[in-house]
Amino acid sequence: SGVITLDRGFKNTGSCESAITFLDGEKGILRYRGYPIEQLADNSTFLEVAYLLIYGELPNKATFDKFAGDITHHTLVNEDIKKILDGFPSAAHPMGVLSSLITAQTAFYPNSLDPNRSKEETELSIIRLLAKMPTFAAWAYKKKVGHPVIYPNNKMDYCGNFLNMMFSLPADEYEIDPVVAKALDKLLILHADHEQNCSASTVRIVGSSQASLWASISAGINALWGPLHGGANQAVIEMLENIKADGGDTKKWMGKAKDKDDPFRLMGFGHRVYKNFDPRAKIIKKAADDVLEKLGVHDPVLDIAKGLEEEALKDQYFVDRKLYPNVDFYSGIIYRALGIPTDMFTVMFALGRLPGWIAQWKEMKEMGEPIGRPRQVYTGENARDYMNMGKR
Ligand code: CMC
Repeated sequence: SGVITLDRGFKNTGSCESAITFLDGEKGILRYRGYPIEQLADNSTFLEVAYLLIYGELPNKATFDKFAGDITHHTLVNEDIKKILDGFPSAAHPMGVLSSLITAQTAFYPNSLDPNRSKEETELSIIRLLAKMPTFAAWAYKKKVGHPVIYPNNKMDYCGNFLNMMFSLPADEYEIDPVVAKALDKLLILHADHEQNCSASTVRIVGSSQASLWASISAGINALWGPLHGGANQAVIEMLENIKADGGDTKKWMGKAKDKDDPFRLMGFGHRVYKNFDPRAKIIKKAADDVLEKLGVHDPVLDIAKGLEEEALKDQYFVDRKLYPNVDFYSGIIYRALGIPTDMFTVMFALGRLPGWIAQWKEMKEMGEPIGRPRQVYTGENARDYMNMGKR
């Protein structure tokens, strides 16, 4: 009732109170549960950060061992999932496959659908999700390349198990390079939460209708897929490749990005909240240098990316609009150096963001948030009378 305030894209609307992630866009600060992202990226592990986000505190050794052990215990997926996977054409984008497989889990765990489910049932869904997501992600890739799926190996840690399911072949076991596993772990930490972004808000709003955790996370995956959100990491590499094929003419592409008649945007640049710099981009840029050097990879698109950044940072258009490289600008370059194909980049983002989505969903439930239901300003016709088809 009363006057509706219009706020397109919710640029100035707080949708909830949250104690999970602190973000100061002017100062470039990001903290999970109070811990600076820089410290977590350097010292923590992805599973520890997942625990922190979901339960609010860093775990002690016993708690962590139980958490990691429970996750390991649930990595296997129902064998019938393979039949669903088989039904997809091999050209299917792995993000669509991933969100479909997550939705399909509701059929295997009908108890998770009950809005009055017990706390234990919710906990089980959380553990199952964290455990099975890498399996689904790797299997979506196997489908794409037409290779047999590799089952989870419970002797491996979270990232090692994922890499093994991605890259091992029945006749040729993939050897896990600790540099690759560590780099992957760091990227997942950096992606783990980002307060009320498009996909987290989607997860909350779907969950607010009392839809299950699985259904809510599947919706979040689809929200992340778009190129203005998580899909930007794929779009960045495609853009850099196009610039390279075009002779590396970064000035020309900068011009396209500034041209208001051209829909092209500099992918990996700009952010709704960060108006100074994205602290994740700083860490990732350094990690890109480190990882490529350690792996002995020279990727010419890294040079193009650095050139673009340098030009954009001194260009009036970008300065005026406070457009800086975001988390997606350099992440794809690392993923590529790790051997991950371009159309899996957004799946990697989803893998990283999963604990954040779970934490947001859990908090929303615990706070007893009402159903999410924005209003509108109606601009359509006034009342008019129905006319039979013959008279129109
Ligand atoms: N290239 C060129 N111009 C841009 C860009 C860009 N990447 N980003 C914003 N602008 C311009 C935009 O045209 C507008 O100009 P004007 O004021 O003249 O109309 C101004 O900057 C403000 O942009 P906006 O679209 O109103 O800002 P927003 O907060 O709605 O959008 C954004 C934020 C991230 C969607 C946008 O910056 C963008 O499209 N960036 C490229 C896609 C991208 O990298 N997305 C990843 C975001 S970070 C990780 C994640 O969320 O997954």
